[in-house]
Amino acid sequence: MATRDFQEKVVLITGASSGIGRAAAKAYASQGAHLVLAARREPQLQDVAREVEALGVRALPVRCDITQPEDVARLMRETETAFGGLDLLINNAGLGLYGPVEALGEAQLRQVFELNFFSLVRVTQAALPLLRKRAPGSQVVNVSSVLGHRGLPLLGGYGASKAAVNLLTESLRAELAAEGISVLLVSPGLTETEFRDARLNAEGWKQEAIPLDAMSAEAVASAMVRASRRKRRETVLTLPGRVMVLANRLVPGLFDRVARRIQNPAKKAP
Ligand SMILES: NC(=O)c1ccc[n+]([C@@H]2O[C@H](COP(=O)([O-])OP(=O)(O)OC[C@H]3O[C@@H](n4cnc5c(N)ncnc54)[C@H](OP(=O)(O)O)[C@@H]3O)[C@@H](O)[C@H]2O)c1
Repeated sequence: MATRDFQEKVVLITGASSGIGRAAAKAYASQGAHLVLAARREPQLQDVAREVEALGVRALPVRCDITQPEDVARLMRETETAFGGLDLLINNAGLGLYGPVEALGEAQLRQVFELNFFSLVRVTQAALPLLRKRAPGSQVVNVSSVLGHRGLPLLGGYGASKAAVNLLTESLRAELAAEGISVLLVSPGLTETEFRDARLNAEGWKQEAIPLDAMSAEAVASAMVRASRRKRRETVLTLPGRVMVLANRLVPGLFDRVARRIQNPAKKAP
């Protein structure tokens, strides 16, 4: 029988109730990992818990709003009680924001940064004592976006929150290297999930369908598991996403012109 790469490892996933987080829970479970599942929607978490338990591993669903420090503290206490430590933290919960910089409301922008950046920092800080119990070899996986590597029209607020995650990831990687804790960045491109339904829109703005093929959440989850196995520091997903990140590194001025011309199907609502 093939060995399962994450046998008996403990993996905590934020935003495990849908999309990429839910698919990642199943992908790590199929490799033998036990799962701590964190999100606000309890019925969905219970469903995911049943799905992963059917794969023969343990699941601990914890209703948790990661913007709330006391919820995060309880999440870590429950993880420690159930499993004693943590091998992988997957910082996946996230929220989008759509609209031109000029129209972004400050409250919306703060809400997006609160979840995508500040809460990621909060969860990481709270998880570190548990990750240290399993070091060397434990891991933090931060879920960013291709939009954290290159700004596009109407996506600047969201992209900025992910760019902050990218930079923080680099610092954290250097800080934890000597302890044997790896810090990885996974940057999905367009993925078929509930993300666009949950996304905030600047007043009067709404995006129509995007004329690009979306990846499945399962394909993102497989790539994440591969990155974890190989301790690959950075993973950029979808072909258009990779092309964009590379073109922006090699010929940023040219890519500025491309970005300007991107025919965005979104328009200001009447
Ligand atoms: N879909 C894409 O095209 C795409 C592309 C690039 C990057 N990403 C990134 O991928 C990650 C996952 O997104 P997704 O596409 O899977 O979207 P999704 O289906 O909307 O999932 C978002 C998850 O975050 C959780 N969440 C939201 N607010 C939370 C809070 N305050 N506390 C705890 N959990 C919270 C949600 O659960 P509850 O509502 O139950 O709390 C949900 O499980 C995000 O970081 C996103 O930025 C997505």
